[in-house]
Amino acid sequence: MRKKVIAGNWKMNLTFAEAQRLAASIKEDAGSYKHDVMLCPPFPYLTGLSQELQGSTIALGAQNCADRENGAFTGEVSAAMLASISIPYVIIGHSERRMYYHESHEVLKDKVGIALSNGLKPIFCCGETKEIRLAENAELHVDKQLDDSLFHLSDDDIQRVIIAYEPVWAIGTGLTATAQQAQDMHKFIRARLSGRYGAPIAERIIILYGGSVKPDNAAELFSQPDVDGGLIGGASLKAEDFKAIIKSI
Ligand code: 13P
Repeated sequence: MRKKVIAGNWKMNLTFAEAQRLAASIKEDAGSYKHDVMLCPPFPYLTGLSQELQGSTIALGAQNCADRENGAFTGEVSAAMLASISIPYVIIGHSERRMYYHESHEVLKDKVGIALSNGLKPIFCCGETKEIRLAENAELHVDKQLDDSLFHLSDDDIQRVIIAYEPVWAIGTGLTATAQQAQDMHKFIRARLSGRYGAPIAERIIILYGGSVKPDNAAELFSQPDVDGGLIGGASLKAEDFKAIIKSI
């Protein structure tokens, strides 16, 4: 049985005081959570929030890491730095990074490799735009994203990756994929993992759905057999909504 994971991607939001209040409120109920919960705040809040969350089972993830080990790359944050402050997870390849910062398949492949070699677990995002879905090329597109940046990994390394399917047309738009659309793509991703690594490994890999998950649609999405939880944007910024989503599984 795969475990279920609910992760909040706070993106570039909140002051530190707001972030502390939000984390404290999510921690308050942690004893009653039956699933793994993770928060991905902005870089400068990671250390403060790990203190805030001490003694709870809530994990922390970063939203990005550099594609280089270290050196003269002003403004970048390396996987080694994240590892040195005991951050276990890092989001790689979010569509906002691909779109606004032009992160290519090659760069993302490097980031995945560097995250893994520093002991971090990547949450690798994939997903198609509206145009690609309308042209009925969604599976082809996701397939290529996996092939280009993930499928070079060894059997051991792929099992340290969480995949997040986030259709771009559903992110921050209020348009959620239907439970069936999500299940179909997750099933496709698992089939591709199975083709590449074999069924026992594919069955162990966690595949999250992201894109306008809210308290009122979470239960149906998460009840799909291949949907192992969610990567939540907007609704993770409101303690009550995020907690309702965690409890909806
Ligand atoms: P929303 O939940 O705001 O649509 O964002 C999803 C997302 O991008 C999570 O990484």
